[in-house]
Amino acid sequence: MSHSPFDRQTAVHSIEVLRPEFERELKTLVDIPTVSAQVDHKPDIARGVEAAAALIRKAGGAAEVLRPRNPDGNPIVLGRLGTDPEAPTVTVYNHMDVQPADREQDGWTSEPFEMTIDGDRYRGRGTTDDKGPALSALFGARYARQHGVRTNVAFLWEFEEEIGSPSFEAALEDHRDRLSTSSIVVSDTIWISRGRPAVPAGLRGLQGFLLRLRTGQRDEHSGVTGGAARNPIAELMGVVCECFDPYTGQVRIPGFYDEVIAPTDEEFAGFKASGFTVEQFMKDHQFSSLRSTDPLEVMSRIWARPTFEVHGVVGGYSGAGLKTIVPPYAEVKVSCRLVPSMTGSRTAQRVREFIQARHPDIEVITDHTLEPYAGQTSGPLADAISSAIEFGFGARPVFVREGGSIGAVLSMQKILGKPISFLGLSLPEHGYHAPNEFFDWGQAQGGILAFADYFRRLGG
Ligand code: BES
Ligand code: MN
Ligand code: MN
Repeated sequence: MSHSPFDRQTAVHSIEVLRPEFERELKTLVDIPTVSAQVDHKPDIARGVEAAAALIRKAGGAAEVLRPRNPDGNPIVLGRLGTDPEAPTVTVYNHMDVQPADREQDGWTSEPFEMTIDGDRYRGRGTTDDKGPALSALFGARYARQHGVRTNVAFLWEFEEEIGSPSFEAALEDHRDRLSTSSIVVSDTIWISRGRPAVPAGLRGLQGFLLRLRTGQRDEHSGVTGGAARNPIAELMGVVCECFDPYTGQVRIPGFYDEVIAPTDEEFAGFKASGFTVEQFMKDHQFSSLRSTDPLEVMSRIWARPTFEVHGVVGGYSGAGLKTIVPPYAEVKVSCRLVPSMTGSRTAQRVREFIQARHPDIEVITDHTLEPYAGQTSGPLADAISSAIEFGFGARPVFVREGGSIGAVLSMQKILGKPISFLGLSLPEHGYHAPNEFFDWGQAQGGILAFADYFRRLGG
């Protein structure tokens, strides 16, 4: 029996020993509420930046804090393990900011920003999106470097991904000289299910909007004014239904689908062979019914078609009982997921023109724009990813598409101009953005092994 550090059994045992350290460090990260969407968490972002840089230094690396061009933006942590000029550098991208979480309102069973360990599970906001995968990559790099792998590993840890990476691209431009790399690997995506690894060959983009309508100045009695008064909540609901059919999801805005490129036969074959099932999807996401029950249709809907979505409504009374008022103001938060080759700007223009032609007093404000991404499913990097995942988890990945969006990917493609691959470690059941989000040791351990093996493969 071989005892080389890249013999799988040997590596599994060596990584097992690291578990208490992994858990301690993940808790350090998760216990800092690095919520990028809420300004009152700015001090936590600053603490998170320091904690993240400290972890890289503790792993034997160097870390610096890249300041954004816009002083209100969040910094980026740039770490490095290895500075061998003869060896290639691979840059690992993760984000260290997280979605908001509210224990009472969202129904967490424990404090979202106090990581708890429950057997193999690590529960807390950001455990799987994306602090656990970031830490797994760091541990993998350290393992590889300690066992003779010469590949230099750089870490690009962003703190604004969950708000659409507004200052990331300018920061890459400003610090370009420090970011030279042979390739990039992004760890921020999900598998089909446990035991079924997936690598995205594409990501959907996103165009966000706020629709606002003001029809008065204050709440008025609905008995005294109702019937004559306009109702801004109801009107915005009506507008949303003019934009799309809420039952089928079909978008009614002219031209909306014009640029959509349907998946190729080969891609559809990949979808069919991916192991995706509607039953598992419903279970992972706790749905009681869906718009379709046909698996290929469901996969196409989440990976390969654009959407119109409503995320929230602001306005009126939502406390206990009925308060019989007519509200003066309402707002809806909506977005469209985009697929190649749609663009945020064309979509924004179509939505704006459609609404404003019908309802001139509705204010249409555009929010985040993240362009869709189309990547590679073959070539040496894709092969290295497949082999590394097989080394880590004992199964080769399927190449599918991903329904979510990562703004930083487009920016790295544009500014760094190097090939991008994906080595995501999250599972649907981990609950991205959901209450009781978790990561688990199985995915961490396999991920550490997979990253170590990936860096080894890129080194020679
Ligand atoms: N990790 C996700 C992206 C993702 C989601 C990949 C689902 C694969 C499957 C990322 O952190 C994310 O949530 N992005 C947001 C961006 C938005 C808030 C601007 C998204 O997709 O909604
Ligand atoms: Mn993420
Ligand atoms: Mn996210």
